[in-house]
Amino acid sequence: MCGIYAAINNSSVTDFLISGLSSLTYRGYDSAGVAVFNGTGIERRRAEGKLSALSDLLKIQPLDGKVGIAHTRWATHGLPNEQNAHPHMTARVAVAHNGIVENYEKLRVMLESSGYIFESETDSETIAQLITYYLDFGLDSEQALCKALADIEGSFGVVVIFSDDADKLYASRKGSPLILGRSEDGFSVSSDVNAFDESINSITHLKDGDVAKLTPDSFNIFNLEGQSIVRLMQKIEHEKNVSGKQGYKHFMLKEIFEQPQVFENTWRHYYSQVDGEFKLPKLPFNDKDIERLSLVACGTSFFASMVAKYWLEEQAGIPTDIDIASEFRYRNVPCAKNSAALFVSQSGETADTLAALNHCKSQQQPCVSLVNVLTSTMATESDGVMPTLAGPEIGVASTKAFIGQLTTLLVLTLALKNSRAYKKDTPQPNIAEIMTTFPDIMNGYLSDTSHIERVAMDLKHVNNILYLGRGIAYPLAEEGALKLKEITYIHAEAYPSGELKHGPLALVDEEMPVVMIVPPGPLFGKSMSNLREVASRGGKIYLISDKEGISQAKDFIKHGIEMPDVDPILVPLLYTVPLQLLAYYVALYKGHDVDQPRNLAKSVTVE
Ligand code: F6R
Repeated sequence: MCGIYAAINNSSVTDFLISGLSSLTYRGYDSAGVAVFNGTGIERRRAEGKLSALSDLLKIQPLDGKVGIAHTRWATHGLPNEQNAHPHMTARVAVAHNGIVENYEKLRVMLESSGYIFESETDSETIAQLITYYLDFGLDSEQALCKALADIEGSFGVVVIFSDDADKLYASRKGSPLILGRSEDGFSVSSDVNAFDESINSITHLKDGDVAKLTPDSFNIFNLEGQSIVRLMQKIEHEKNVSGKQGYKHFMLKEIFEQPQVFENTWRHYYSQVDGEFKLPKLPFNDKDIERLSLVACGTSFFASMVAKYWLEEQAGIPTDIDIASEFRYRNVPCAKNSAALFVSQSGETADTLAALNHCKSQQQPCVSLVNVLTSTMATESDGVMPTLAGPEIGVASTKAFIGQLTTLLVLTLALKNSRAYKKDTPQPNIAEIMTTFPDIMNGYLSDTSHIERVAMDLKHVNNILYLGRGIAYPLAEEGALKLKEITYIHAEAYPSGELKHGPLALVDEEMPVVMIVPPGPLFGKSMSNLREVASRGGKIYLISDKEGISQAKDFIKHGIEMPDVDPILVPLLYTVPLQLLAYYVALYKGHDVDQPRNLAKSVTVE
């Protein structure tokens, strides 16, 4: 949450900072700011709104300097306005901060009573004022920084410049990621490795408690007690073709269209076509006799976990619990014997999921993370890691990361089914063939989206939508409703179709559009009964089903979204696509900023 970019070079850094920030706007986009040392003092520009507002300001009031810090904000404390935008500064220091200073009120009272005057409502400004307080005591910049950071309860990734120590850039982290990058011209610091352009040739991830002191030609890392720490720089492999929208109108649309490739990459990564065997990384539990799995995640990653519960129980015979991380972390969950916990996260930095992971670790439960960022904190903290291979996801609404998670969880299920010889006496489908032909099915479906565009046009003016699904289609209904809420701001609710009569049916009348997800399978007949219940109350049904389903329901539905035939095991992956496209096109027709929906940010690193 929030993005940080800072640099110290032998040449001017301002353009570099703005370009770094432009790769981070998906982490927060309600205001942005930059501060540099201009040769005589620290000078700053800040603007409310998108980064373009700051760029426009810099055209009128340019900044120039060889060391600087920049930030794009997602508001936690205080309104999203210029006054609360980072960097925060005093005459002596400027700070950009990610995270939350939990004891900021206490610190602020102490500082204000000592005569320090705050100009913002933020918790982050406390850091700048506190460093100044220690500088005014006569400490040097390094000592003042360490002393202030030691006083802070909560989490931080901070970059700091000093007016009296202006040939250096400082960075430190506790619970909020920061990465150092080296170029021919100097050093950069970012909260996200994707912000580094081709000029950055090597990187190192700061660890909690690290303080980095950078000049254009050197870096030193030490802890808050001043003891030196060795962190090795590693060559960075820049991912090809990840930047830019490559002809798509939005990152979200590009990422939806990348999904067949994500599926294929993930499948190939985990399955050897040559040996006909799964290639899982070493996992910290015995796959043959594990008795229980527990999956913990937030948002879309939680819905991927919910799909996996159906798979793991049905296909591999493993009782599986699923939990929303923000609930799990405060429930004092007793971890079952002979069980393992899986943490599913695109970013690998989600604060609640990380806290849940730490709880399970403290209970000595084996912990595995499924993350899209291999260098993330969750990956580092876990006993085992299964990467999802979606590549960097820029659209704030998660699409291809979800498909990467589903594919990885499906591979895990199938591998566990194999090793446990579960249902070995029933006929086994040719899974390799099913999986190898799937990308073509998905691509075929994506080759014509006009039917979804027509439905989206129909739905763009509604205020409420119900999403219904049964069995493994229920988590898809949840994910479809979440996508719609996120980017269209239409109120959408998902229910298991079987719950209708227990309450939500009261919502259904001629005004209520209902998206029903009814794939073929054992629950088809029951779902069709639910569909008729909705139809007989006048609900306008948008049915996602196969040819047969649409044909059977044709007299009851407003629109049919026909899906190609696919093996039942792959239904969740395929049937997700129309739900994503529907949300996308409704948002597009409503004129919303699809990639950067209001109030949201990509990785939720605060509670
Ligand atoms: C929704 C979305 C969020 C994330 C959630 C967890 O489109 O992206 O709901 O899924 O914030 O994030 P990660 O997966 O990074 O832990």
